[in-house]
Amino acid sequence: MSRWLVVGAKGMLGTDLLAELAPSEPEDSAPDDSELGESPGAHEVTAVDRDEIDIRDPEACLAMVDGHDFVVNVAAWTAVDEAESQEAAAFAVNAVGAANLARACAAARVPMVQVSTDYVFAGDGSSPYSEDAPLAPRSAYGRTKAAGEWAVQALCPQSWIVRTAWLYGAHGPNFVKTMARLAAERDTVTVVDDQSGQPTWTVDLAAAIVRLVEAEAPFGAYHGTSAGETTWFGFAQAIFAELGLDSSRVKPTTTDAFPRPAPRPAYSVLGHEAWRSAALDPLPSWRKSLTRAVPIVVPR
Ligand SMILES: NC(=O)c1ccc[n+]([C@@H]2O[C@H](COP(=O)([O-])OP(=O)(O)OC[C@H]3O[C@@H](n4cnc5c(N)ncnc54)[C@H](OP(=O)(O)O)[C@@H]3O)[C@@H](O)[C@H]2O)c1
Repeated sequence: MSRWLVVGAKGMLGTDLLAELAPSEPEDSAPDDSELGESPGAHEVTAVDRDEIDIRDPEACLAMVDGHDFVVNVAAWTAVDEAESQEAAAFAVNAVGAANLARACAAARVPMVQVSTDYVFAGDGSSPYSEDAPLAPRSAYGRTKAAGEWAVQALCPQSWIVRTAWLYGAHGPNFVKTMARLAAERDTVTVVDDQSGQPTWTVDLAAAIVRLVEAEAPFGAYHGTSAGETTWFGFAQAIFAELGLDSSRVKPTTTDAFPRPAPRPAYSVLGHEAWRSAALDPLPSWRKSLTRAVPIVVPR
């Protein structure tokens, strides 16, 4: 039985991580010998969010980490545009909070997973960013998450940095839900076609994080994004198709036509070599996962 602490457990990824760590339902409810013993890979999970801990408090982190075998930090300031005008507040969570957990993990000798983002890269490349590509964030959010990565690796060498991007899932606001809502409200929906990335289902990422930890994979950076790539426009068309709607109702536009406070990376495609080096499967293709995800993320 391994004891996990999930911090940020009520968030979009945290909720699916808890589901992934929960004991699976037995196929037959009749008791048999296998139910009397402990199943391999069983987890005891402490799930905490802002109500139970503020990761900006170093003492609270020290007290919380003790007694666990693994810590996964999915708590974050995720409001990308708001971070532009409130960078210090975002830094307090994404950098100082991550550092507090990392220091506590190092003191208790507990390995830690720190979830990070594609926004740590410049996003102006033309081939997938490798795990050791230089960090060059262009937004306040990206700077605070890059500082969080640096702090975790400096303070807790027994750590995995898992960078993800374009996340969607059943338990938080996201692009898939927004497209489903707009499809019901409007005849056409206009979506940017000059930003590329990897739509990633929280269920796939949660499973990959658990695989990474249970395999005792080498510590370091991993890219927790789907295989393949598309643009937001291509993603929107695929969502319409999965909803049984006419995807020609989605119209392409450019980033310039949609100004936002935080700059968006034009090219956010991440490479997946570290999974292969660790003899682990990377995440599945974004398109196949979308087919599985849509009925769960947008239930009819
Ligand atoms: N969503 C994406 O597209 C995306 C893309 C790239 C990377 N990521 C990364 O993936 C991870 C998970 O993202 P998500 O979308 O699941 O995030 P989320 O839904 O916003 O969940 C984050 C959770 O952290 C909690 N939290 C915030 N500040 C805290 C604090 N000081 N102490 C304790 N808990 C705090 C939040 O509580 P409140 O709700 O009360 O604030 C929330 O429950 C984050 O590290 C994020 O940076 C996400």
